[in-house]
Amino acid sequence: MRLASLSNAPAQSVIPSLWHRAEGTMERVAKLKLFNGREMPMVGLGTWQAKDDEVRQAVQLALECGYRHFDTATLYQNEEAIGDVFGKWISEGKVAREDLFITTKLPTIGNRAENVTKFLTTSLKKLQLSYVDLYLIHFPVGCIGKDENDLQPRDSEGKVVLDMDTDHESLWKAMEEQVDAGRAKSIGISNFNSAQIERIMKFCRIQPANHQVEIHAFHQQKELRAVCHKHNITMCAYGPLGAPYKEGAKQKPVLKHPVVTSLAARLGKTPAQILLRHLIQLDIVVIPKSSNPERLKQNFEVFDFKLSDADMRELDNLDQGKDGKLFIFSDSMIGVENHPEFPFKIPF
Ligand code: A2P
Repeated sequence: MRLASLSNAPAQSVIPSLWHRAEGTMERVAKLKLFNGREMPMVGLGTWQAKDDEVRQAVQLALECGYRHFDTATLYQNEEAIGDVFGKWISEGKVAREDLFITTKLPTIGNRAENVTKFLTTSLKKLQLSYVDLYLIHFPVGCIGKDENDLQPRDSEGKVVLDMDTDHESLWKAMEEQVDAGRAKSIGISNFNSAQIERIMKFCRIQPANHQVEIHAFHQQKELRAVCHKHNITMCAYGPLGAPYKEGAKQKPVLKHPVVTSLAARLGKTPAQILLRHLIQLDIVVIPKSSNPERLKQNFEVFDFKLSDADMRELDNLDQGKDGKLFIFSDSMIGVENHPEFPFKIPF
């Protein structure tokens, strides 16, 4: 499929398009150019909460469908299972390493300069790779684990064990050293706020290439997008379909919003495809997670149609700002809001 029509598409975002899509016109997925000239496929497979057998099957199927971008993290504890599949595909010559785009993330217990090499080296071993395409600081807050496997340390009251001395400047220098050493092609951040980004941009030698945050139709992160845009930091949306949806929540899930379902019916697409396409047309990379073959396949088939300016406006108008936020962290990491680098304002 030629993607020339996509490359020539006028910017539809409220924030003007900055990045050039790659020229690979025969490819099945568009890519975003990072500040350093490297290219990131706009659709990747998310793997959060995917257990070993489930993720092995999903990655295998995704590779067969044409996915080449995969997102994981030390915290997800599934790197080894994912690595089994990469190892097999690469050694059998079914895919070339350079055609894959692999992201993993430094856990909060690694958020000290002296820990970064150790955690990335462990991730690489599990993933059966000699480098990752993108290494992210998973969360701006540091925690203190009993050992390297204590990924979500809790005290006797169930509160998260915080490292109150988290220092982004020395931590970022250690991230930059991973690029120097060839263990990461690009480095980036996840769940940072605007002030934290501005600070990194002041002291960095190698800038963040990408910022991964919650973005979906109800929570479009317009302010944060403007800051990233200003610094040529591309963005990647986690939870692009609006998961997790809490049963009994006041509002309907994003996937069931009438604007989304009626656009889907009119265009002959699924609600998920509409939501993903909306973000892609805003130059946001998406990493929907699915372990279901049919859904995994449909999430990748988002390059054969285009939303009009009017469709985009309808979806833009679904934004609820901070009220649309689904991931709050302070429920799963009790007491995290007491850390000086906690990125979100409480109450939301
Ligand atoms: P499943 O793995 O059973 O497909 P997000 O990426 O926004 O976190 O969303 C992931 C959740 O949405 C998972 O529960 C996943 O379930 C579900 N999901 C993934 N793709 C689709 C789709 N195309 N339509 C509906 N639900 C989907």
